[in-house]
Amino acid sequence: MSAEIESVLHENRVFDPPAAFATQANVRGMDAYRAMVAKAEADYEGYWGDLAREHLDWIKPFTRVLNWDHPPFARWFEDGLLNVAANCLDRHLTTWRKNKAAIVWEGEPGDTRTLTYQELHWETCRFANALKGLGVQTGDRVVIYMPMVPEAAIAMLACARIGATHSVVFGGFSAEALKDRILDAGARVVVTADGGWRRGAVVPLKDFVDEALTHCPDVRHAVVLKRTGHPVSMTDGRDLWWHDVVAGAPSRCEAVAVSPEHPLFILYTSGSTGKPKGVVHSSGGYLLGGIVTMQWVFDLKDTDTFWCTADIGWVTGHTYVVYGALAAGATSVMYEGAPTTPHAGRFWELVEKHKVTTFYTAPTAIRALNKLGDEWPAKYDLSSLRLLGTVGEPINPEAWMWYHKVIGGGTCPIVDTWWQTETGSHLISPLPGATPIKPGSATLAVPGIFADVVNDQGKSLGPDQGGYLVITKPWPSMIRTVHGDPERYKQNYWGHFGGRYYFAGDGARKDKDGYFWIMGRVDDVINVAGHRLGTMEIESALVSHGKVAEAAVVGFPDDIKGEGIFAFVILHRGVTGDDALVKVLRDHVAHEIGAIARPDRIRFTEGLPKTRSGKIMRRLLRDIAAGRDTQGDISTLEDQKTLESLRED
Ligand code: WT7
Repeated sequence: MSAEIESVLHENRVFDPPAAFATQANVRGMDAYRAMVAKAEADYEGYWGDLAREHLDWIKPFTRVLNWDHPPFARWFEDGLLNVAANCLDRHLTTWRKNKAAIVWEGEPGDTRTLTYQELHWETCRFANALKGLGVQTGDRVVIYMPMVPEAAIAMLACARIGATHSVVFGGFSAEALKDRILDAGARVVVTADGGWRRGAVVPLKDFVDEALTHCPDVRHAVVLKRTGHPVSMTDGRDLWWHDVVAGAPSRCEAVAVSPEHPLFILYTSGSTGKPKGVVHSSGGYLLGGIVTMQWVFDLKDTDTFWCTADIGWVTGHTYVVYGALAAGATSVMYEGAPTTPHAGRFWELVEKHKVTTFYTAPTAIRALNKLGDEWPAKYDLSSLRLLGTVGEPINPEAWMWYHKVIGGGTCPIVDTWWQTETGSHLISPLPGATPIKPGSATLAVPGIFADVVNDQGKSLGPDQGGYLVITKPWPSMIRTVHGDPERYKQNYWGHFGGRYYFAGDGARKDKDGYFWIMGRVDDVINVAGHRLGTMEIESALVSHGKVAEAAVVGFPDDIKGEGIFAFVILHRGVTGDDALVKVLRDHVAHEIGAIARPDRIRFTEGLPKTRSGKIMRRLLRDIAAGRDTQGDISTLEDQKTLESLRED
């Protein structure tokens, strides 16, 4: 890692929490926020220990909060015992929530199901018994490769109930990617479906499983949910229908007491940075992070209908569709299909239909929906919304304003939540009843999390100096290791600053108020004539032009400047990209940021190569910008056609 990263983005608007929101919030006002931070500063272990006692049900209470004797291998609450599924389900059955909707599900074709906590418990126990019947034991790994249907959550919770470690593989991944993950995890059972609905068509999951399993001799069983009903081949002895294995399975199943350090799941991080790696999350600390952020960041109330649009194949789905949401007693909305099927207003239609109060999605989705025009959200009554959220990448201020005005009616706070697969839950985010919001900034650390921006010597930097975003203390919901490769965990995340800090690759700056502005992955930094520029800021400048819907910026080799700036630009509907517009946009960036950031080349495109989780695969764009063949693994690419058309022109 070398020099500091120059920060060029300036954004001055501030939005205070609306009074009506602040007075009812779980954390009211900045004084309340500061008091929590002060408590965590004064007594870090006492702070987290109290929260763990308050928010988790323990089968055996813990006596030691944190074991950091062998950094970076943290152990939280290690001498306690608990069960995650019991914390998500059983705890509610002795309260009025027994008959509260736990999951409100909508299939892409429009079929719906609602499961109360009681029903979800019942289904989970039956499937847990079915897994046991197939020989799955505590400590075994189970791969889940399913569409967004309630059974996906049931399968996860069933694993948790018997102490099996699951690895959910996103239903959009190829047979090849699935095979690699099954082998790496050492799974003997795969849970899948015949298929799922996506953009009006069947995704033939079972066919992909069949292909993957020809290379996975250790897999004994595939359990297949009948979802679409299209014909699939079933291998005798190996493949079993879900409805057959649960038929007659008892609806009581003991929740196995496990250590809070027991691995709840392995999740393979997106391939945007190369070879996928399976990061391992704990049971107790992970769940605690999910619960407290449901309370503080999402301000959860029992009257809320909470919709996190992420797929369960992604950590966001794990924490905020399933574990954190259910443990906190939320009604969690789950939607199977694409945001624009059968029409461009589908998300907004579902908000109206289910009276969603809290809506959490990715900036890439917001920009795509914005591009479709305001007439779609205008067709629906969105007045049930009270809080909006974003995750996954920095939200550019223009997309933020659209989300705020058009979706939130100007009254909903927006929580821009910074976190990662590896962090388990939000680490930097506004608390909506406390934090004054600056569009484009994830604002301040969640109370109990200690974050900083440092230079390459690990020295804390002053206001508006760009550097490396680090977390300076271990926290409960952090990953514990990389599956099968503890050394990789140590080097990758704690190796940069002599083991003192956690660093997972983002550049950032803190402004004079201590607000964090994420500048994107440091791998994406462009070095123009000795100036290190964050790609996100240039993209943000491009998108601030009224004709631009989305932009991705990469560097390409330039003999003189070291690197030149190449911008891929998607225009709003009806706008034509011509040479005159190229000039306008180049000048616009120079005006917004400075001449140093003026793109050397601009290329108009219909789409960008993205991973399934919505991350732009910049290494592919870098290859295209440099005129090279695209290299490396593209198994995580969502839409191969986009790449092909970029290669052709
Ligand atoms: C990376 C983590 C945790 C679920 C999302 C994706 C970027 C995430 C923000 C945000 C700016 C963000 C970072 C981070 N990122 N949230 N609010 N503002 N950047 O998880 O695939 O593990 O990616 O996403 O670069 O390191 P992931």
